[in-house]
Amino acid sequence: MSKKFNRTLVTAALPYANGPVHIGHLAGCYLPADIYVRYLRSVGNDVKFICGSDEHGVPITIKAKKEGITPQQVVDKYHKLMSDAFKEFGISFDIYSRTSSKTHHKTAADFFKVLYEKNSFTEQITEQYYDEEAKQFLADRYIVGTCPKCSNDNAYGDQCEKCGSSLNPTDLINPKSTLSGSKPVLKQTKNWFLPLDKLQPKIKEYIEQHKDWRSTVYGQCKSWLESGDGLQPRAMTRDLDWGVPVPVNGGEGKVLYVWFDAPIGYISATKDLLPNNWEDYWKKDDSRLIHFIGKDNIVFHCIIFPSMLMEHGEFILPDNVPANEFLNLEGEKISTSRNWAVWLHEYLNEFANMQDVLRYTLCSNAPETKDNDFTWKDFQTKNNSELVAILGNFINRTLVLTHKFYEGKVPAANKYTKEDLLILEELANAPDKISKSIEQFKFRDAISEFMNVARLGNKYLADTEPWKLIKTDEERVKTIMNIALQISTNIAILAEPFLPFTSVKLFQLLNLNPLKWVSSKQTNNIAAEHKINKDELLFAKVEDDIILKQLQKLEESKKNNQSTLKNVSEIKTETTFDDFSKMDIRTATILEAERVPKTEKLLKLTLDTGIDKRTVVSGIAQFYEPEKIIGQKVCLLANLAPRKIKGIESKGMILMAENTKGELCFVSPTNTEFNNGSEVK
Ligand code: 2FM
Ligand code: ZN
Repeated sequence: MSKKFNRTLVTAALPYANGPVHIGHLAGCYLPADIYVRYLRSVGNDVKFICGSDEHGVPITIKAKKEGITPQQVVDKYHKLMSDAFKEFGISFDIYSRTSSKTHHKTAADFFKVLYEKNSFTEQITEQYYDEEAKQFLADRYIVGTCPKCSNDNAYGDQCEKCGSSLNPTDLINPKSTLSGSKPVLKQTKNWFLPLDKLQPKIKEYIEQHKDWRSTVYGQCKSWLESGDGLQPRAMTRDLDWGVPVPVNGGEGKVLYVWFDAPIGYISATKDLLPNNWEDYWKKDDSRLIHFIGKDNIVFHCIIFPSMLMEHGEFILPDNVPANEFLNLEGEKISTSRNWAVWLHEYLNEFANMQDVLRYTLCSNAPETKDNDFTWKDFQTKNNSELVAILGNFINRTLVLTHKFYEGKVPAANKYTKEDLLILEELANAPDKISKSIEQFKFRDAISEFMNVARLGNKYLADTEPWKLIKTDEERVKTIMNIALQISTNIAILAEPFLPFTSVKLFQLLNLNPLKWVSSKQTNNIAAEHKINKDELLFAKVEDDIILKQLQKLEESKKNNQSTLKNVSEIKTETTFDDFSKMDIRTATILEAERVPKTEKLLKLTLDTGIDKRTVVSGIAQFYEPEKIIGQKVCLLANLAPRKIKGIESKGMILMAENTKGELCFVSPTNTEFNNGSEVK
């Protein structure tokens, strides 16, 4: 931090309001941001902590469709859930706002207009898929089709989740709109693009001024700038009806790209927090902007948002973007859809008043430089062997002995030994070490240095054994206990950024008003004769059965996932070869196919069976276009009794395979040269 800053604006990524918050979110972004802000407040900096719900974007509209409610209802529900969970974990936002607010819509629209009037955008006409039945353009996630790489029939327009390929909607074979099931058509549409290619030199210069950023962040930015053809223009508007309407002529029926409006949410939230002086934080050169995010957001915060801010011209640029890597759970990627997560609202129910234990575990193991793993076993060890055995034990011994020897009154120190002076010196030096780590965004190091202070205290008591010494040297014990109480007081101060609930409780036990960081450099914060409160334990042991229960819960998720993925129906009861031989199954070829009018599922097919030409009605219209299956080889149950379906006599049944999602596909001979009428045995 070479430049002098007078105020700091800290933002934490606005989470999408389409699901509850889990430990990955907390470890990735909100916890480090909170530690940083609490620390800056404690040292007396002018700091504001900004967050809110990101309430736009396609996933929210998809969730709404799935649940049969409106997008607004989706975001209202999750906004409250997320906001409550953050509060309960002590994430101390100065404001938790939302992007569906009026302030935000106006701020984002005005921002767009400024860039529009400066001619920052290029207008481009592109071809996008359009659903003629639903009468709307389709976002990539609203199109499914066959993946050209792995033939998965359920690939999305932007990605195939089976083989992981990134796709464009036009790459899909047999694309289908998820809104109406119809085949989308390509239609021209105009959108406004940010020409990142032209802005590349300015962005490059900006990034290169920040070699001090985490190497993972700097490295990712460099690779965006340097790989392939470098930065490419990106559409800042989308053909969608959920979001901030595009506020210029020709923008009807379009909204701002969610990644255009979301970071502007930081500005809108600051406006709501500080209606009269928000600009000081965003526009003055002596203000500092810091974005805490997860690594999947790096390009948006380090390249796209700074480009928008530069083009606008009135704003400062992000000074640092301490992005974390990902946190896994028990060796696997956290996944909302697979329920492979530890949800904060569930944790709060199952581990009442143990927020600091999770904060401690997540910070000690923060994925700062690489992806890390959360395991329940490690959670237990961190609690039992560190919080209980070191920090809790030291504080408890100190408080209990103070009550036992001095009726809860702090004894005066009388004569320091050489060892005492070394302890006091180490205590006085601790805050600066912790500060240095926090200021460099090294929160793991910081919390470990914090814990070293408790270790120091614990060792001091173990070495001096005041419980034994009291019988032989009462005067010496007074000094020892005074020092132990000074260490306890400083721990209460230093704990605040990391373990705010513990800090509050410890100050209460010590019967002191909370003190600020600067006091922790002193070693005389608790006065002789001061009366402390009755002792209580700070932490409780976590027993094996509690951990087992959590592991079983995860095991359940795994089982459920396996059963939804592979919910293959059970084998039917035994049959005989004779029964099977009664069925006459033949290969055949589809000669003609047409939809059965006024039905959604039925196709009328004419088949060449090698013996005759016959009509079969088949319920496969959702899966196959009639014109595309002419010439398709199939297997036919040829001796099934004829029956009338929608007035058409159907002679036989085409064999289809059905997967666990209820989708059908033909079962046909692998050798297409096989003549029609070949028997299937
Ligand atoms: O990845 C996400 O959850 C996004 N909603 C983050 C947005 S951060 C900012 F730009 F608002
Ligand atoms: Zn694929």
